[in-house]
Amino acid sequence: MGQLIKHDILVIGSGAAGLTTALHLAPHANVAVLSKGSLTAANTYYAQGGVAAVLDKGDSIEAHITDTLNAGAGLCNEDAVRFTVENGPAAIHWLVEQGVGFTTEMLPDGQEDFHLTKEGGHSHRRVIHAADATGFAISNALIEQVCQHPNVDIFESRVAIDLITSDKLNQKGKNQVVGAYVLNKETGEIDTHRARFVVLASGGASKTYLYTSNPDVATGDGVAMAWRAGCSVANMEFNQFHPTCLYHPDARSFLITEAVRGEGGYLRLPNGERFMHQFDEQGELAPRDIVARAIDHEMKRLGVDCLYLDISHKSPDFIQTHFPTVYEKCLSLGIDITKEAIPIVPAAHYTCGGVVTNKHGESDVDGLYCIGETAFTGLHGANRMASNSLLECLVYAISASKAICGKINTPVTSLDIPQWDESQVTDSDEDVVISHNWDELRRFMWDYVGIVRTDKRLARALHRVELLQREIDEYYSNYKVSNDLIELRNLVLVGELIIRSALQRKESRGLHFTLDYPDQLPIAKDTVLTPV
Ligand code: FAD
Ligand code: SIN
Repeated sequence: MGQLIKHDILVIGSGAAGLTTALHLAPHANVAVLSKGSLTAANTYYAQGGVAAVLDKGDSIEAHITDTLNAGAGLCNEDAVRFTVENGPAAIHWLVEQGVGFTTEMLPDGQEDFHLTKEGGHSHRRVIHAADATGFAISNALIEQVCQHPNVDIFESRVAIDLITSDKLNQKGKNQVVGAYVLNKETGEIDTHRARFVVLASGGASKTYLYTSNPDVATGDGVAMAWRAGCSVANMEFNQFHPTCLYHPDARSFLITEAVRGEGGYLRLPNGERFMHQFDEQGELAPRDIVARAIDHEMKRLGVDCLYLDISHKSPDFIQTHFPTVYEKCLSLGIDITKEAIPIVPAAHYTCGGVVTNKHGESDVDGLYCIGETAFTGLHGANRMASNSLLECLVYAISASKAICGKINTPVTSLDIPQWDESQVTDSDEDVVISHNWDELRRFMWDYVGIVRTDKRLARALHRVELLQREIDEYYSNYKVSNDLIELRNLVLVGELIIRSALQRKESRGLHFTLDYPDQLPIAKDTVLTPV
């Protein structure tokens, strides 16, 4: 029998969004933080390039806003962009106060300041970073703070299965979240976490695709749980493909940061020719959707398995100082990037859509907040600009925390929450069903719902995903849950939401490119899906 565990606030996720929320709420309430693995099992830990914010005197809020709107291909919510960009510098100062060791440089006037790098779509240097391991530096600093806080209880190796809401408990009135059922991977039991506020900070869904830069946790659990709880989701068709992941049998799509191009790296064909200027006047630093599509186009045209990213014209000292992680990783695989070009391919990287939220992270369900990659705030539009994601995590975590603090003294609803019921299920006798369906889903999402789409491919994918869904629902009703089954159930649902959103968009815009509708419509609209 699982435990009943009570807190004021339950934060599901230990990435930048979850930890920032926990640290802002802990002085006012008791907080539980859940992570599927250790606290570092998050996309945040692997972030390389940095965080975008206006920190340089020559830069401006208006320029960051304009660049974000341009990268978003006409679909960003301008209010959300302004809100995020204006609150960016304060969020960075908070990170510095938490002890994040960002890279500095000596200026000509002898003053030390933060080094700012450049990435695709940015008209200025505005990406603050810790060499090429920014996520590692941010995660470690925030984890250290959170672990010391007496008001934060950490629960590692926990997988939230579903949110518990008043609607699911057949209560009348506005649908309100009251907690979550959570698999404790250490005991195998299902615990009931009760909380007045639940914050979904559970990251993105790029594991829906066969090739991804993301770690294993990115299975869209937050979007799936929120959808099943009654929340709308938006713009799920805009899954971002990072142009440059290492192509190597032993590298599992290791990311080669966009800052390599920001610091002068060239994209090359197998014969050494550069090609990006044929696709966009910004060349290698065009927004990510354009670069990924150009690479995909050239790979298909030439029938080759990868293209190349070359920074070897810079000095070995420059390369090793700016990109120590990339340098070491490539060297461990026999590629010396100070002497040769890096084989690269695009891979699924970031979920631009998500659970519909406002500026305070509030969703359609009372008491349920969603922040970070799980959320749709309107910031990214049809294509996220590089390094705006960590910024969004921080800014919305801070604003959601303020909103929750404002409500912390409101009366508590007392509802009886039943324990998880396992009386009707048995141990699974055929785990192969899970692994087979997992592979099948990720492969057809890659083949039919990837960088270039058509209605025919999307219809084929929808048919497949509906078959899988029936099979998995049946499996879920009959067998005890496991980590893999929970993730597969979520991945299939998120896959369906991506496909349905893609089928609704009868144009090509940003990351959604379809051969059937190659043009952009004059009016940009979000794709919003609402559960019935
Ligand atoms: P995450 O950091 O992914 O954290 C999600 C958390 O939720 C994890 O702790 C996970 O264990 C937990 N979780 C998920 N499901 C459940 C569940 N069911 N139950 C319990 N816990 C759950 N963005 C930038 O802005 N700049 C960069 O330089 C950059 N580089 C990147 C490099 C790589 C290789 C990758 C993969 C991404 C990069 N991104 C970058 C994107 C950025 O890192 C992510 O969008 C961001 O870190 C998301 O933070 P998050 O807190 O929303 O989610
Ligand atoms: C990178 O370093 O290229 C990733 C940056 C991002 O995803 O914003």
